[in-house]
Order: sequence, then structure tokens, then C-alpha cells
Amino acid sequence: AVERTFSIIKPDATRRNITGKIIDRIESAGLKVVASKRIHMSRAQAEEFYGVHRERGFFGELVDFMISGPVIVQVLEGDNAVAKYRDVMGATNPANAAPGTIRKDFAESIEANSVHGSDGPDTAATEIKFFFKDNEIVG
Ligand code: CMP
Repeated sequence: AVERTFSIIKPDATRRNITGKIIDRIESAGLKVVASKRIHMSRAQAEEFYGVHRERGFFGELVDFMISGPVIVQVLEGDNAVAKYRDVMGATNPANAAPGTIRKDFAESIEANSVHGSDGPDTAATEIKFFFKDNEIVG
């Protein structure tokens, strides 16, 4: 079924000017970018977005990293978009990511891992709402 997922191209990727290379992977997989904006997250925004990780040891570093530079937030649409984008991204830790995935080919570390993607359809809906108004999404 046609589905939407939420993506962040992270500060390590905007810093290296490789956002186009990453979007090419997304589009080549048959996912369509139906919303997109370049933003610099505030600390409060990053803390709320990653609130589920608040108790984890890496939370502070994760928030610092996510506000260290601009990011590109996007809504991706396509058949089975949530699972498909997870396949295109590869494992969270680039050391474990399969060949040909975004994280294998571009990520610097488990923290600076170039992209975020929703982990399920419900999370996707919540994450999309966090950054986009309905009229900013154009299919
Ligand atoms: P993301 O999909 O954005 O969701 C949470 C992020 O936390 C994850 O990608 C990683 O970038 C980061 N993360 C997960 N585990 C660790 C870890 N052990 N150390 C540092 N960062 C981590």
C-alpha cells in the first residue's frame, strides 16, 4: 500500500554537501519526496523529537549532534515507504550496514549516521506532524 515516512538528512551530510547524493538514493528506490525543508533545529525541538531516547546514555551527544548544523527534513511517499526507506538507509551503525545502503556508503559513525527514518507507520505519522503542516505536503 502507498504509505508515507519521515526522513532527516543529518548535519554530517549537510556539512559534507552530499544531500543530493542521498536524495538520489531515495528517489532511485522509488520513493517520492512530497515535502522537504532545510532547517536548523533548536535544542528544545531536538530534545522533544528524540524524547523516546531521553534516558539513554547517548541522548546528550545525540541532541548536540543534531543541532550542530542544518538538516533536511522530508516526507517520503511510496509503496511500503516505511520499510523500504529502512532498507535504503541500512543498519543504524554503519559498521553493520549492508553494501549499497546510505549508511554503509556515507555514514561516519553510529551517531553521525547521515539519515533518520521512521521505525513504523505510527511513528511516521507523529514525526511528520512534528515538522510539517498538511498544506506543506504535496503528493
Ligand atoms: P536515529 O534513527 O536518528 O535514531 C536515534 C539515533 O541515536 C540513531 O539514529 C543514532 O544516530 C543515534 N544512536 C543510536 N545508538 C547510539 C549509540 N550507541 N551511540 C550514539 N548514538 C546512537
